[in-house]
Amino acid sequence: MDDFLDKKLQERETNNSLRCLQLKDNLIDFSSNDYLGLAQSAEAKQAIADYFLINHDYKLGATGSRLLSGNSVFAEALECELVKFHEADAGLIFNSGYDANLGLFASIAQKGDTIICDEHIHACIIDGARLSFAQRFTFLHNDLNSLETKLKNSRGTIFIAVESVYSMDGDVAPLIEISALAKKYKANLIVDEAHATGVMGKNGEGLVQHLGLQNDVFARVVTFGKALGCHGAIILGSDKLRTYLINFARSFIYTTALPLHSLVTIKIMYAQMLKKQNINTLRKNIAFFKIQFLGTNVNLIESDSAIQCIIITGNTACKNTALALQKNGFDVRPILSPTVAKGKERLRICLHAYNSEVAILELCALLKKII
Ligand SMILES: Cc1ncc(COP(=O)(O)O)c(C=O)c1O
Repeated sequence: MDDFLDKKLQERETNNSLRCLQLKDNLIDFSSNDYLGLAQSAEAKQAIADYFLINHDYKLGATGSRLLSGNSVFAEALECELVKFHEADAGLIFNSGYDANLGLFASIAQKGDTIICDEHIHACIIDGARLSFAQRFTFLHNDLNSLETKLKNSRGTIFIAVESVYSMDGDVAPLIEISALAKKYKANLIVDEAHATGVMGKNGEGLVQHLGLQNDVFARVVTFGKALGCHGAIILGSDKLRTYLINFARSFIYTTALPLHSLVTIKIMYAQMLKKQNINTLRKNIAFFKIQFLGTNVNLIESDSAIQCIIITGNTACKNTALALQKNGFDVRPILSPTVAKGKERLRICLHAYNSEVAILELCALLKKII
């Protein structure tokens, strides 16, 4: 076995793509998913502390899966609250976005069905689709012709999987057009809103609601670990879908439920998000960052989201540029192949409400100098 491990790790070394865990130093954050700064909000921390000061008779763990001892009035009430906010019929909380997508895709598609994914779809959707017995297709990123070709070749019940904001590019899916194609071919559209929640929509509801498509999608996956600054996810859809997932989604059934502390945090983070000043500051910072590259030859992927990417081809070149930025105090991470396609390696710059204009200006000046 050691030989196998050595061989696989050596391959990664050779490709300059060996992953390793890093501890945070005091760099300026241009890499975390805490787009609104809620993970570090003093107000949120105080609200959570206040809740448990008053409600001290609680268990630290959920003590079981939701189907056994892990359910609570709080969990069900929170689901109702989120369903109302997101204008859905029903919702089911999962322990993470990974678990939500894994459970949804693995359980919903059957042998003889088809799952069609955008080629840039997140790994947890690929893993879920793999666990199902359905046939799997990918279509070219955001390419409607490519999607339609796959739809024409599909059989059984069809599912289309897209992200509203793509995690590795920051660009958005043409959801109106994809939804029209889904209708034309009687396909079920599933939208992962991980990087759109808290960023898109008037109050951070996500792109689906921003476009008024909430009644046209089969399911939405909203995650709490990005702009909401905490942990967990909810699958939004019909009441029937919720009951189905409770019965068939193995990543829901066979795991200990989220503890009360996590549920209270989710509730408080939604209340914080609704205060909106952070969303407005984030949007201002995104626009400010983009303006810095107008008229330059920096290869910025078109994006209005908090994720801004600059293509730097080749793992070594991309890694070295990120290292240079880090040495100058900026936490910017390289995204290397095989995480993204060879030749499409990039610096992934995440903008936040708490990034100052001075820090953004300094980062952009350095980027323009070294690229
Ligand atoms: C598009 C997308 N979906 C799902 C997930 C998984 O969410 P979580 O981190 O809550 O497991 C991620 C996180 O990387 C993501 O980027």
